[in-house]
Amino acid sequence: MKLLVVGGTQFVGRHLVDAALARGDEVTLFNRGRTAAALPAGVQWRAGDRRGDLSALAEGRWDAVVDTCGYLPSEVARMADALDGRIGCYAFVSSVSAYASATRPNDEQAPLGRIDDEDTEVVDGRTYGPLKAACERVLQARLGGRALCIRPGLVVGPHDPTQRFTWWPARLARAALDGAPVLAPGEPSRPIQFIDARDLAAFVLRALDDGLRGAFNAVAPPGFTTMGALLQACAAAAGASAPIAWAHADVLAREGVRPWVEMPLWLPADGEHGAFMDVDSTKALSAGLRLRPLAETVVDTLAWWRTLPPAQQVFDKAGLSPEREVEVLARCASAVSASGAPPAGQSANS
Ligand SMILES: NC(=O)c1ccc[n+]([C@@H]2O[C@H](COP(=O)([O-])OP(=O)(O)OC[C@H]3O[C@@H](n4cnc5c(N)ncnc54)[C@H](OP(=O)(O)O)[C@@H]3O)[C@@H](O)[C@H]2O)c1
Repeated sequence: MKLLVVGGTQFVGRHLVDAALARGDEVTLFNRGRTAAALPAGVQWRAGDRRGDLSALAEGRWDAVVDTCGYLPSEVARMADALDGRIGCYAFVSSVSAYASATRPNDEQAPLGRIDDEDTEVVDGRTYGPLKAACERVLQARLGGRALCIRPGLVVGPHDPTQRFTWWPARLARAALDGAPVLAPGEPSRPIQFIDARDLAAFVLRALDDGLRGAFNAVAPPGFTTMGALLQACAAAAGASAPIAWAHADVLAREGVRPWVEMPLWLPADGEHGAFMDVDSTKALSAGLRLRPLAETVVDTLAWWRTLPPAQQVFDKAGLSPEREVEVLARCASAVSASGAPPAGQSANS
């Protein structure tokens, strides 16, 4: 397949490019040349800024374009117009954040978000999702039957720049060294949902091969795993036997610990994002989405994280600083339930 990837050098796009090259696709990248120090052997590169000059894309035909870095409807519209008539399919990497609400499980028919000012920038989670939805609408309007909108849930694995999933294997690796308690959120039985970026890449390529169009939630099925099972897998990968201190949601709220950011992958069940990790992915699973075992994602993420230079191993985007974690643990020592390796299903107290 002749594939154009808009982006392609950080995380999701990087795995997509690797997978496409590995199976012999002819891959062209369009990006500014800022994110990656070097490109993988075998790709063709068209230099350009999607918010500026698209002339590098003035010539060429592709079976499909995969747009991994579209965030604004205006930039997606320009890209679609620039490539019009020269691509078989426009695959847009959207997000489950595009749905209007995350209080109930969403399938692909659920309403998408809306935003009054579609020319605004992505400034936070409140604009990110509705702008992705607006990007999808733009593609549908321009390309209709040639648009494929992939809506991933939380994407995890090696090269993840967000640090969210990586926090847990790395945190348990620290615990393997110092044996100190690890603060864990809520209840071990709380279901969590994500997708390994390599499984996402494989699904996008398969969807293109099979000529799929329309929208697909790309994420593990609801209940794929739990917070407890994740920490268990992380402890096993790191060889850690430190106690896990499960703090109830109320305790964490009292301490001002921010869900998702300071306790990554944790969203209180009764909050506005209570069903964010309860998305229906039946359609993608029926269309060939395959998920690797949790343990593989954990082991590979930890192995990758260990290769990073020390400065990049500092968690400045997700997780708690060691000092803050010790403080929180000390202040709520009587209000957590401690365990060794976290047994799935154990309930936390408050
Ligand atoms: N992480 C998650 O949990 C998650 C969940 C759901 C959906 N998503 C979506 O998945 C995608 C993930 O993106 P990624 O960063 O991993 O993709 P990526 O394709 O691996 O990296 C981003 C690419 O975009 C290029 N780029 C950025 N600004 C550009 C510009 N103005 N013009 C041309 N190229 C530009 C960068 O290269 P240069 O800097 O060299 O230009 C880089 O190659 C996003 O669309 C995100 O919304 C992520």
